[in-house]
Amino acid sequence: MHVYILFAHPSENSFNKEVLETFVKGLEDAGHTHEIGDLYRMDFESDMDLAQYEREVGLDPQAPVPDDVRAEQEKVNQADALAFIYPVWWSDCPAKLKGWFDKVWSYGYAYFYDDNEERFTQINIQKSLVICSAGHPEEHLEETGIAESMRRIMLNDRLLGIGVREARMEILGGMMPQDDTYRQENLEKVYGLGRSF
Ligand SMILES: Cc1cc2nc3c(=O)[nH]c(=O)nc-3n(C[C@H](O)[C@H](O)[C@H](O)COP(=O)(O)O)c2cc1C
Repeated sequence: MHVYILFAHPSENSFNKEVLETFVKGLEDAGHTHEIGDLYRMDFESDMDLAQYEREVGLDPQAPVPDDVRAEQEKVNQADALAFIYPVWWSDCPAKLKGWFDKVWSYGYAYFYDDNEERFTQINIQKSLVICSAGHPEEHLEETGIAESMRRIMLNDRLLGIGVREARMEILGGMMPQDDTYRQENLEKVYGLGRSF
């Protein structure tokens, strides 16, 4: 499979960078190919501007999209699968990645309606995997219902909801700053996710 990996973290020395490298190693060992969309290093402009906003609410599926959006859609078109790697910030992905969804999942591409109000998508992705690290232990996020909220929004709405056929989230919990207790265990899990992708 060819996997397009969206990576959203500002630091080159972060745990998330290690997650990215470890996941890629697992994918390569399994014989998959990949491309990395490193949103901070690409300086991806995540704010939707007025021109694209007016395009999105205009509901014209043929209206042209900005060049950076078109470039991302091309990378998605070339992929069989998507992976997302990011830290949980305020119970969601960093704004950089949220803005990627706002812009790249554009009307006419991720969803559009025909004259009978039937919904269609141009996205043809077999599977997706979301790997997100969190300061709280996973059990805490499950008990408080936050893990379920994260899954509903990220998997049900942003992935399965636009036609991605399989979606799964793996939360790497207990990753508090300056605390390495769960680091190794989490990285072993990440290698396995790549190796068995
Ligand atoms: C702005 C910000 C918001 C955060 N919000 C949450 C949160 O809502 N839930 C949580 O479990 N951890 C939260 N954290 C902790 C991060 O998820 C954690 O530090 C990160 O996963 C560690 O990976 P890193 O070293 O690659 O940044 C937050 C951290 C920051 C900086």
